Amino acid sequence: KKVVLAYSGGLDTSVILKWLQDVYQCEVVTFTADLGQNEELEPARAKALKLGIKPENIHIEDLCEEFVRDYVFPMFRANAVYEGEYLLGTSIARPLIAKRMVEIAKQTGAQAVCHGATGKGNDQVRFELGAYALNPNIKIIAPWREWDLLSREKLLAYAEKHGIPIEMKHKQGGSPYSMDANMLHISYEGRHLEDPSAEAEASMWRWTVSPEAAPDKAEYVDLEFAKGDLVAINGERMSADKLLRKLNELGGKHGIGRLDLVENRYVGMKSRGCYETPGGTILLKAHRAMESITLDREVAHLKDDLMPRYASLIYNGYWWAPERIALQALIDHTQQNVNGWVRLKLYKGNVVVVGRDSKTDSLFDPTIATFEDDAGAFDQKDAGGFIKLNALRMRIAANHRARKG
Ligand code: ARG
Ligand code: SIN
Repeated sequence: KKVVLAYSGGLDTSVILKWLQDVYQCEVVTFTADLGQNEELEPARAKALKLGIKPENIHIEDLCEEFVRDYVFPMFRANAVYEGEYLLGTSIARPLIAKRMVEIAKQTGAQAVCHGATGKGNDQVRFELGAYALNPNIKIIAPWREWDLLSREKLLAYAEKHGIPIEMKHKQGGSPYSMDANMLHISYEGRHLEDPSAEAEASMWRWTVSPEAAPDKAEYVDLEFAKGDLVAINGERMSADKLLRKLNELGGKHGIGRLDLVENRYVGMKSRGCYETPGGTILLKAHRAMESITLDREVAHLKDDLMPRYASLIYNGYWWAPERIALQALIDHTQQNVNGWVRLKLYKGNVVVVGRDSKTDSLFDPTIATFEDDAGAFDQKDAGGFIKLNALRMRIAANHRARKG
């Protein structure tokens, strides 16, 4: 029996690794993904080896470019935001991890996949819906739903007993938050944040300075788009991965993209989380500005109608579901003409659009829009009939009210 474990190298997944060997008596294949979380991954290899994993069973992969190009950018074409605020940083990474777990299972002849998400959260749903969608016969092991190591103390005791190296920080109580990071965002939940009425500690934030501490001078930045995707910053073309890294750096420096939110989890509970999404916050604003001159009004409004639905699909773990794929086809189709550039000003936590243009696809017609003499481009007399016909049913209703008294 073989199982592919999504392995971070941290305490929790190391305990899971040992527990799988112990309780399921199976051969463990570890999968560790670099999604741009800014963490050394080689220690995960050393740790896996130490826990008895065969070298050929250790998979460490750099998925940064694929993550941004095939998941983050397609999602931003939709301007997806969950519950008006959350940019879905964790949600969008799970489908890629699920896909790689299933692929590695196939490649190594494993029957099962295993993850370290709890039974209370969204992540378990995302991993498992993704895995089932891609391999209907996959077996799933979710230790947090099975074992009784439900407290820090029990986890540490188990690690101690089984010779799992415990780092100093865990002995000192571990992180005061449950965190998840990738190139799009870093999230903090739980522990110190469990009282939603209390402000998060200033020392929690890792990627951004506070707006108060950001530079007093605004910084201008030009973003160039092709088919709805960012392709260049300040005239410099880069890979998707490098572009998002650059935006993160700019946003971090100017205190952009902090969020403190109570959200509704798919499993039914409310949960308080804090997020830093510096690059994503800039990208969302710029993409909407790009669409503002290149998209037809009704297409733009249709996208806005569908967006909350699309965002919920991603939040709830339905990336690989047929309805998300169908919506994506529609969204991608709308992006054909979303080409051009946007100029932004970054200043103390704010992203301000100051200019936008498209050489090839602007629908903005200055001869029509002008407040000056348009030389007959727009006949203002037409507006009278337009308004009168739109008012017709309201005039009929008003007459009706008058008759009834
Ligand atoms: N609440 C966010 C979401 O559902 C973040 C989840 C963070 N996950 C984690 N394993 N710490 O997308
Ligand atoms: C977890 O429960 O593993 C993290 C939180 C979540 O998935 O929503």
